[in-house]
Amino acid sequence: MTEEVKILQLNRETMISKLEGILALEHNWVGIGERPWTDENFLREINNKWDLSFLAMRRDEIVGYSIGFESNPGVAYFGKVVVDKNYRGMGIGKKLLTEFEKKCADLGLSGIHFKSQIPNNTANKMYTEAGYHIVGHTMGDDRINRYDFFKALKTATSTIKHSKPTLDVEYRQGIEDLLKGGRLADGSMVTSFEQTLEDYLGSKVILTNSGSNALLLGLKALGVKEGDEVIVPPYMCMSVLQSVIHTGAKPIFADINHDDFNISKKGLEEKISKNTKAIIAAHMFGIPIKDFDQLRQYSTPVIEDCAQCFGADYDGRKIGAMGEMAILSFYATKLLTTGRGGALVTKNEDTYQKAKKLMTTDESDKFILGHSFQMDDLHAYLGIQQFKRLPEFIKKRREIAAFYRQVLQDTAHQNMFLRRFDENNLFYRYIVLVDDPERVANKLKLFGVEAKKPIYKPLHQLLCLNESIMNTDLAHKYALSLPIYPLLNKEDAKFVAKAFLASN
Ligand SMILES: Cc1ncc(COP(=O)(O)O)c(C=O)c1O
Repeated sequence: MTEEVKILQLNRETMISKLEGILALEHNWVGIGERPWTDENFLREINNKWDLSFLAMRRDEIVGYSIGFESNPGVAYFGKVVVDKNYRGMGIGKKLLTEFEKKCADLGLSGIHFKSQIPNNTANKMYTEAGYHIVGHTMGDDRINRYDFFKALKTATSTIKHSKPTLDVEYRQGIEDLLKGGRLADGSMVTSFEQTLEDYLGSKVILTNSGSNALLLGLKALGVKEGDEVIVPPYMCMSVLQSVIHTGAKPIFADINHDDFNISKKGLEEKISKNTKAIIAAHMFGIPIKDFDQLRQYSTPVIEDCAQCFGADYDGRKIGAMGEMAILSFYATKLLTTGRGGALVTKNEDTYQKAKKLMTTDESDKFILGHSFQMDDLHAYLGIQQFKRLPEFIKKRREIAAFYRQVLQDTAHQNMFLRRFDENNLFYRYIVLVDDPERVANKLKLFGVEAKKPIYKPLHQLLCLNESIMNTDLAHKYALSLPIYPLLNKEDAKFVAKAFLASN
């Protein structure tokens, strides 16, 4: 039977000539989409935007129709499918969908989106089988719950990862030499990488096996202990909180700025007290803290957390050399990586000696409750090699960011990086603000693009504190991070931008 059914695109002329038949179907409503329209709103709507609509004809009789249009740039919205009650279960809905998809592909659209009522299991099964994914649930104006379906029409050939390190094959030779040399723990590479960083920052450097352990070491060297308080911005990864809690001190959360996600002066003012023994000030996502010296007015040590901003300058000063102490991370996703690794940076000789002592794990006459946090020679070798390419890595990140900005600037997407912070930003992350980051990430996944919430969960929420921290909570609600790294080529960046536009 279905062979006899022809699918025609519904243009204005056919619509007017077939209007009576179309409206008759409205009273036989079935399928996905909205409830029947009145004659009046049907005419108005179809004139305005439903330009991807189709009719199913059997001889001269209309037996079904679908309505659709381009909603967001690059995405078609499949509004409704209606099949005459006498012709249901004969594959007419599927035929209408297939024609719609073909037309969308011809027009170069990237995805198809629609909403379907939850009780309609037959239709839902058909769409799932046709490659649609449920990316969320929404409530319609009629208070009926709907599945939110999405299908990417163009997919990447492979997944574009959220982060990726740049590693050179030439490292092999150096690693082989180290293996042959047989000295893997405290050989010349650790000393040499420390020296490189000391020359760059003009401070003393102790390499560690992670950024969080560098922080724990630094806090202990400052004498932070049980009963003390440490100020932490809560829009931050969990490991920072772990380091603070390991000292026995209490973390006190100071809010961030709404526009750069860095610790705010006001947030700090509200939370600092006589018990505060250290302030952790992280340059987040590659953006240097703009008023760093104002954070230092309290005679409380400020620890610069440069895990996400190593290599940047601000006002002619190097990030990592602004406060009494800094920590670096060389974790795999970072601007410069050794796999895992970190460093404690300080200008203070006394703090440096205390930290060194805390790293003593052998050859001591007296017992020391120290930590085995040292970096080894293999990792230090990677650090030396990576450091040579840091300016090039930063340049690449900035180029990609400029490209994203150019593509996204004419769109309605709120994006703080479109407006400010470009000059000193290293673009460790490219953050966009969207209404529902999880839903957009799920849609991007269908295009083979991995996007993530930049912080998995804010720290006060992790500790289940009954406290709302306004800018942090807002950042968590809206921020999404798109892939950005030196190995992301122009084609991939173009694809990410297109997929992002199609996923909103
Ligand atoms: C801002 C910030 N601080 C500290 C750390 C901890 O560094 P690591 O992972 O090397 O322990 C991270 C880590 O990912 C970070 O993003």
